[in-house]
Amino acid sequence: MTIISHPSDLRLQAAAATGPRVLVPTMGALHAGHLVLIRRARELAGPDGTVMVSIFVNPIQFDRVADLAAYPQPLEADLAACREAGVDLVFTPAPGTMYHPDRSVTVTESSLSQSLCGASRPGHFDGVCTVVLKLFLLSGCGLAVFGEKDFQQLAIIRRMVRDLDLPVTIVAHPTLREPDGLALSSRNVRLTPAQRAAAPQLRQSLLAAKTRLATGIREVSELLETARMEIESSPLARIDYLSLVDAETLQPVTRIERPAVLAAAVFYGEVRLIDHVGIAP
Ligand code: PAF
Repeated sequence: MTIISHPSDLRLQAAAATGPRVLVPTMGALHAGHLVLIRRARELAGPDGTVMVSIFVNPIQFDRVADLAAYPQPLEADLAACREAGVDLVFTPAPGTMYHPDRSVTVTESSLSQSLCGASRPGHFDGVCTVVLKLFLLSGCGLAVFGEKDFQQLAIIRRMVRDLDLPVTIVAHPTLREPDGLALSSRNVRLTPAQRAAAPQLRQSLLAAKTRLATGIREVSELLETARMEIESSPLARIDYLSLVDAETLQPVTRIERPAVLAAAVFYGEVRLIDHVGIAP
């Protein structure tokens, strides 16, 4: 496994790589959810292709300094996990090498990023789009694998690929969950035992609203109220947003006439978790 820490070296190494080049962009603190993305990348690359994993805690996508500072960075364990998973190349740049101090170009998606995490974390998706575009360009990947947990991120990256004619096929992989339903996330390790015990309520609340819909309740406000009450049944939970959006435009809806998504971000202490469920009309 080759480990590269400078962007220009990635460009050189990747250009010399054989077969399909498949990228899994990550911020490290790898867990089973990342490992399934890497496995999928291995399948897509085949034995002769090149699986590349980027490990970079991208500072420009964080809206809270404390969140960036607390983001786990177990690099040695991550490298061991990549080696074990059959990764060919790991790109792990220092922030100073990714961004010029006077950088002045940012990629902005201006529609899908107006709601949900984009609304509650200003600038977040500018940071994501900018780093992902740079990673695509440096790695020359033809395929990139992303998790469906960050479904707004996935939609925005697909839009960026479409609108900028990037020669990259985006492959999505379903969310991996703990047995109690909590979506796997690098942030889960920061939960206290009490917060960890409360956190599965996030998923359960979204499912409870979906169940109400199945029983004939069509009022969006009522569905949101169901989910809100379930989440807030834990005193440890603080809702950042809870919203029902159109599955394509990601704009909030007042009636369920097309496929929609019920999504929430909830703080457990300082740890912000997200989850969503699909809603059929
Ligand atoms: O989903 C993530 O881990 C990050 O947003 C990504 C795509 C690696 C960009 O920094």
